[in-house]
Amino acid sequence: MKKVTIDTIRRLKGRNTSFATLTAYDFTSAKLVDQAGIPLILVGDSAAMVVFGYDTTIPVSMDEMVFLVASVSRGANLALVVADMPFMSYQISVESAIFNAGRFIKDAHAQAVKLEGGVESSDRISGIVNAGIPVMSHIGLTPQSFHQMSGYKVQGKTKVSAEKLIKDALAVQAAGAFSVVLEGIPSELAKLVTETVSIPTIGIGAGPYCDGQIQVFHDILGMFGTFVPKHTKQYAKLGDGIVDAISQYRIEVEAGKFPEKQHSAHFSEDIIDSIRSSL
Ligand code: KIV
Repeated sequence: MKKVTIDTIRRLKGRNTSFATLTAYDFTSAKLVDQAGIPLILVGDSAAMVVFGYDTTIPVSMDEMVFLVASVSRGANLALVVADMPFMSYQISVESAIFNAGRFIKDAHAQAVKLEGGVESSDRISGIVNAGIPVMSHIGLTPQSFHQMSGYKVQGKTKVSAEKLIKDALAVQAAGAFSVVLEGIPSELAKLVTETVSIPTIGIGAGPYCDGQIQVFHDILGMFGTFVPKHTKQYAKLGDGIVDAISQYRIEVEAGKFPEKQHSAHFSEDIIDSIRSSL
């Protein structure tokens, strides 16, 4: 099997079957996602919430993201690794956007970056693409605009905002994005966008008619206890399983049942006796 490339993802547009993508934030989880045959891993700025424990995605920094992306890149043998550009790493200028995108490629070995925003982000997208770095865009409910949206709200519900969303999708495509994440928009609108653009659409809370889907690792595995987003299906309840396993470990340590003989190396009693007598 060969490493997934941007072209592989582009070719996933408009097939009869949809494709699944997922986030990951460290070496071990990236290896597991890779082994499950997921073609694209996003190191999402959702790390702010599921890894660093912030209330929104806004506080996570470039340095924190570079650190996570580098670990994921080491674990993902086949999947394409996309690094999510954190808040204020691309909003200020095209130059700073290119500089920060470059850090993800050069220092953390990602293959592409993702950034939020449609028409208003298109000069940053084309700047980064012209620097030779593939860009995945993200429109609709854009979590970094939490305050601007007055919370996490479904977007594109009126005719005017639906038309704006289609303009955004066309603008990011024209700017050179190789794919577009559609988050938190009505399913019928996601279908229309998917039919309108020639790049793959990847939905989250946007219904089944996108070319692909994306979810957050901790959400689908039942590991994020703070809340369960409406767009998520829990395929496991690993959080409960982990708490059970750790409790069992604690109980066995307290009861003197762990560690057992096979869990450490052993000296012969003679050597210990001779050491003891020389003390
Ligand atoms: O940060 C993230 O994980 C994301 C995806 C949910 C699209 O942006």
